Amino acid sequence: MHMRKKKWARPELAACSWYTEDGEGRRGRWRAFFARPEQPLHLEMGCGKGVSTAAMAADQPGVNFVAADLSADVLGCARRNAAALCGEQPGNLLLLQTDICFIGHVFAPEDGAERIYISFCNPWTEHPKHAKRRLTHPRQLMQYRSFLRPEGEIWFKTDDDTLFQDSLVYLDLCGFEIVYLTHDLHASGFSPNYVSEHEEKFAAQGVPIKFAIFRMRVPGPQMDPTRYRLTPGVRAEALKRLDRDQDRREDLKTHKYRNNAE
Ligand SMILES: C[S@@+](CC[C@H](N)C(=O)[O-])C[C@H]1O[C@@H](n2cnc3c(N)ncnc32)[C@H](O)[C@@H]1O
Repeated sequence: MHMRKKKWARPELAACSWYTEDGEGRRGRWRAFFARPEQPLHLEMGCGKGVSTAAMAADQPGVNFVAADLSADVLGCARRNAAALCGEQPGNLLLLQTDICFIGHVFAPEDGAERIYISFCNPWTEHPKHAKRRLTHPRQLMQYRSFLRPEGEIWFKTDDDTLFQDSLVYLDLCGFEIVYLTHDLHASGFSPNYVSEHEEKFAAQGVPIKFAIFRMRVPGPQMDPTRYRLTPGVRAEALKRLDRDQDRREDLKTHKYRNNAE
């Protein structure tokens, strides 16, 4: 969705001490920019106007967040939303303007993130050539692997069925296992769920929200998954593997997320 340019966004961001465009300059040193560097580090890829980011950061002061987006205009909105909920100087939230397609230049293994959120990323379903731009594409996932801690998690939500199913395959190929999955997040009772701007819009239209949590397996995949084309054969193989894992998944779901899910 195209957003009209916001004249006020850049000046406000320039004056904001918890906003940066110099992600590469902080590579390997992100934790030092928080009031409490020892806290877990959670990253949000494509945070948009930061509606859910602001709610999470306010609700979870014991977690440090970096919320990233390409657009300074939406980050200007994210800054205002976060300031309204967390105050003008939140000690646990940083906003980052960057292109996530090159996120490996911005975070290093030393940053050691515990969790990545990807909510309602652009589905890029119109042309197969564009799939590489998806924030869940192996090209991006293999970069996330480089700075996620072992057992680190990816929390992914979308309204888009094709993107969701393709992403299950991408994550499997890149060595992530499913620990929780629902095709209707709002009916699932999973809690806490921080509703994003796009989630609110799609839910109001009656579109079920697809949601899954993945855990990074170590070691990673043997083959370079960025070289796979998502042919019908590759997809079918991966979906078969996912089906075989179903029982284990239910087991993990009841164990780890027992207190969160219904
Ligand atoms: C559909 S919006 C979703 C925003 C928010 N997560 C939500 O759920 O409301 C997708 C966001 O991802 C950002 N985005 C898309 N590709 C990106 C990239 N390569 N790097 C950084 N941000 C990107 C867009 O600027 C946009 O703000």
